[in-house]
Amino acid sequence: MFLTLALAVLAITAAPLQGQVRVASPDGRNQVTVEIRDGRLTYSLARDGRALILPSLLGFDFRGARPLRDGLRITDSTRQSHDEWWTQPWGEVARVRDQHNELAVTIEETRAPRRVFTLRVRAFDDGVGFRYELPKQPGLGGFEIKDELTEFALADNARAWWIPSNWARKDRSEMLYSSGPVSVVDSVQTPLTMQTQDRRTFMVIHEANLVDYARMFLRSSRTESRTLTAALAPMAGGIKVRGRTPFETPWRTIQLADKATGLAPSLLGLNLNPPNALATTDWIHPMKYVGIWWGMHIGTETWSSGPKHGATTENTKRYIDFAAANGFGGVLVEGWNIGWDGDWIANRDAFSFTQSYPDYDLKAVAAYAKAKGVRLIVHNETSGGTQNYERQLDSAFALYRSLGLDAIKSGYVTDLTSEGHSHYSQYMVKHYRKVIETTARYGIMLDVHEPMHDTGERRTYPNMMTREGSRGQEYNAWSGDGGNPPEHETILFFTRLLAGPMDFTPGIFDLLRVRRPEEPRVRTTLAKQLALYVVLYSPMQMAADLPENYEGKPAFQFIRDVAVDWDTTRVIDGRIGDYVMVARRERGGQNWFVGAITDEEGRTLDLPLSFLTPGRRYVAEIYADGPKANWLDNPLPVSITKRPVTSATRLRVVLAPGGGQAIRIRPER
Ligand code: NOJ
Ligand code: CA
Repeated sequence: MFLTLALAVLAITAAPLQGQVRVASPDGRNQVTVEIRDGRLTYSLARDGRALILPSLLGFDFRGARPLRDGLRITDSTRQSHDEWWTQPWGEVARVRDQHNELAVTIEETRAPRRVFTLRVRAFDDGVGFRYELPKQPGLGGFEIKDELTEFALADNARAWWIPSNWARKDRSEMLYSSGPVSVVDSVQTPLTMQTQDRRTFMVIHEANLVDYARMFLRSSRTESRTLTAALAPMAGGIKVRGRTPFETPWRTIQLADKATGLAPSLLGLNLNPPNALATTDWIHPMKYVGIWWGMHIGTETWSSGPKHGATTENTKRYIDFAAANGFGGVLVEGWNIGWDGDWIANRDAFSFTQSYPDYDLKAVAAYAKAKGVRLIVHNETSGGTQNYERQLDSAFALYRSLGLDAIKSGYVTDLTSEGHSHYSQYMVKHYRKVIETTARYGIMLDVHEPMHDTGERRTYPNMMTREGSRGQEYNAWSGDGGNPPEHETILFFTRLLAGPMDFTPGIFDLLRVRRPEEPRVRTTLAKQLALYVVLYSPMQMAADLPENYEGKPAFQFIRDVAVDWDTTRVIDGRIGDYVMVARRERGGQNWFVGAITDEEGRTLDLPLSFLTPGRRYVAEIYADGPKANWLDNPLPVSITKRPVTSATRLRVVLAPGGGQAIRIRPER
């Protein structure tokens, strides 16, 4: 009797036809309002009662059908609450809490064909997500989306950090960041990080669970406007999405935090992805790796055949020996397979993923690696020749498995696919997804360069380890614009890395090496290269320099020691574009690692070690910028010291201009 009554009350409060419904996060701070205004569906977002997103349009523009936008009404709404902890097989934290309140609003057109859809909203303490669900119905079967009409009408001219988007060219997300008021934004990529002018809130717009849809960019239709609109990457011919009901879009997410340090670890997107779909995950191993790679980028070796060919049997064995001697899990070999000679970008459909160059004996190196307990990471550069790659997936992966090879680094150096689709189109989303699923079936881990941006796929497919998708270390070898400026990684941490792990490839020690004197070199100190292992999270972390550049260098010990899988992550301090300091405890162990990095300014940071277990004695092994070190003309000095510490200790972390500090804190033996 009582139960029936309670349900009835609920049904009344969720009463339809009121034209306005709301849902708040479990802590009550974040509130989304969904309402009909002049027949159009809108949502708005407030935090602590302050508007962050003003009523913003929702809907679609179709080809060959009226837009799903006007003459709408709310016919029903339902609510649910959810609270669950789940464990990541690997990650920046072990345990994740998915606690949210959900509101599902059913919308109907008031005139024929009376199409219906659901807007599902989830409010979490760390942000909100919403998606469209189009059920199967007579008035809406197969469809083609010309545009998604979703808007983000920002209440405040917030400061934004962005990289531009331009899907005709340069579609690889490998640009430097700009920053300024959101009103000057033109067309940008997500995650888009913003700080409100009153400095009370950080907001990050992104998406989650992108499976069968186009990637979302954000575009401002008018200059001086604070309203951003979803802009989907097109396929050849201009259509954005082809689908058939029943159909769900990815989640549109708005992460929220009071401070920049509250943005990471960013778990909202993971909570909006389906749980792990793999039967077993014990074969998946985070690892550090070395590889035949930097030599090609600085021009001492080649991918193509010839006298400087890097991927020879002998050279690979040398790398395997080095990896085994130093406890690295993997060796990446690029340029091993037929297809690199001549213009490999133009000849992308000629890449073979099974045939090696004559001076590379794949079987022999695979056996050698296995005997030494090291994994070979097989390189698959497709250059966007997706059909060429898809045709070979099964034969290639079956070959790799038969040789015991279970990790791939893939690459998509291209602007448009052979068929003329945007790098970020629905076509490519499906391609990347197919590769994730196929590698999962073969028990292969994946590191993707020039990837689709990360929308949390690793939760469902934990073999999707890491990806690039931003400007990495490689630009310091050859970029015509002088390489990455000292502030670059302090922005990456608060932008790109909020989407998920990045294969940045840190660890360059030969910092003064240049191809030609006028060309760039790495604009960091050596200690900062060490700190990047802790700051820029990746479950596959490269020691990117040539082995000979590590020999005899005491600072290399930190790269040998640093963990790649974490129980806990704490962002101690940071300001976007200026500096950041992160502490992480290794998975299943008691060692903590701290990384601090700064831009071109030197600084001193305060590091309270209160995260350590009280009453326990530890030793801190500190790799600091040495005397007079700076990125510009003295990047190499590192001072390595040890000192006893406890949870009551406060360390003064002194960073040189363009510098960093890396610390390992281990229990006293
Ligand atoms: C770009 C990737 O980011 C880089 O790591 C790789 O070496 C080249 N493409 C060649 O595939
Ligand atoms: Ca790249």
